[in-house]
Amino acid sequence: MESFLINGGNPLAGAVRVSGAKNSALKLMAAALLTSDKTILQNVPMIKDVRTMANVLRELGVGVTVTPERVEIDPSGGLSDTAPYELVRKMRASIIVMGPLLARLGRARVAMPGGCNIGPRKIDFHLSGLEKLGARINVEHGFINVDTNGLTGDVISLDYPSVGATENIMMAAVTARGRTVIESAAREPEIIDLAKFLTSMGARISGAGSETVIIDGVDELNGATHTVVPDRIEAGTFMIAAAVTRGDLVIEDVNPLHLEIFISKLRSIGVEVQEFDHKIRCRGGEFNSTDIATLPHPGFPTDLQAPVLVLLSLARGHSIVTENVFENRFVFVDEMNRLGASIRTSGHHAVVHGQSRLEGAIVEAPDLRAGAALVLAGLAAAGTTEVRRIGHIDRGYENFEQKLQALGADIQRVEVSNRAPSAAPF
Ligand code: UD1
Repeated sequence: MESFLINGGNPLAGAVRVSGAKNSALKLMAAALLTSDKTILQNVPMIKDVRTMANVLRELGVGVTVTPERVEIDPSGGLSDTAPYELVRKMRASIIVMGPLLARLGRARVAMPGGCNIGPRKIDFHLSGLEKLGARINVEHGFINVDTNGLTGDVISLDYPSVGATENIMMAAVTARGRTVIESAAREPEIIDLAKFLTSMGARISGAGSETVIIDGVDELNGATHTVVPDRIEAGTFMIAAAVTRGDLVIEDVNPLHLEIFISKLRSIGVEVQEFDHKIRCRGGEFNSTDIATLPHPGFPTDLQAPVLVLLSLARGHSIVTENVFENRFVFVDEMNRLGASIRTSGHHAVVHGQSRLEGAIVEAPDLRAGAALVLAGLAAAGTTEVRRIGHIDRGYENFEQKLQALGADIQRVEVSNRAPSAAPF
């Protein structure tokens, strides 16, 4: 087991380049299944989830070559229909291969994703959307079996703008007969990125990024080369790192328009934010409390809820944070309180009583974004923090500690196998 050991208190300074978006790259890799031609993805983040998705594709019989920031996918050698449990349980996003497999093969067999520590994360909208296009669905022995004699476009009105459901339905619909209309679609930048990639493969899609996405089916798709959109969540994480360490960072290769509400919230808290075409400069100072509610894009992103709680833990006064997207996303609050924060939760609300400082302690990352938030808290805290279970963080942040070290952070990755908590260097 590895941990991060962090000696907090160094203000971060300098420039950091944001990698390609995890939440786009994974879906683009799945979209490559829609053709038998080779596709090339550039600006792919070199993270654990991308390696897992590469293994999912290999398991399906596809050739995948991963070199730094570039993934070549070659499905010309045939395609199997089964995504096994061992891979789907490692990464729930693997279920995104369902739509492309259904479109290419007329069938898919995908293991049911297991529970997840940020709530139950159902997939009913994915399945009812595919059913509406003409898929038959049968769940047995822990597998979701979908098959069809041919998909036909229809109007699919989502009960909630689910990112994954919008993507799965878009990919199933690109070669369906006729027109598919997705109403109440998710509007995230990653949806626009997927639509751009599919369009360059020959698909006919309009409206991506709005609440109505229209897909006119084509006979087949061809290979394409595509550059993954920048990771707005990684950018937001570094912006908060600048703020909580009272540092001064330039975040490069980011689209500030993807972070509008997040930026306006940071400004209202007292963080100095300057926007440029592809850069954001962010400086920390004194912070004021504020109330935040997470919502689907363009609302405040749920993936930045944990990081912003760290900032509000250091703000004057009380803040209320409401999590509207996922259940159980406050599981890391107990760990924050071990670092000296004062946060109480009730259902999907967290009440944060700002403190003048945080103090180093041993904490455990319960999931990806909360893990990153605990690192930010450690960077701001007085003394030494050990963040355990950092495998969660490696799923989604490329070279996290190297990027932070280059900005002046004192953070080391250490092996902690079998070490008793009392033996930690505090
Ligand atoms: C994606 C992102 C995740 C982000 C989330 C919301 C990836 C790999 N992950 O997750 O980082 O936090 O979008 O921006 O891209 N729901 C249902 N039924 C469904 C589908 C969803 O009830 O069929 C519920 C979920 O339980 C959740 C909410 O809808 O409460 C949002 O889920 P969704 O937008 O689908 O998120 P993901 O695609 O799983």
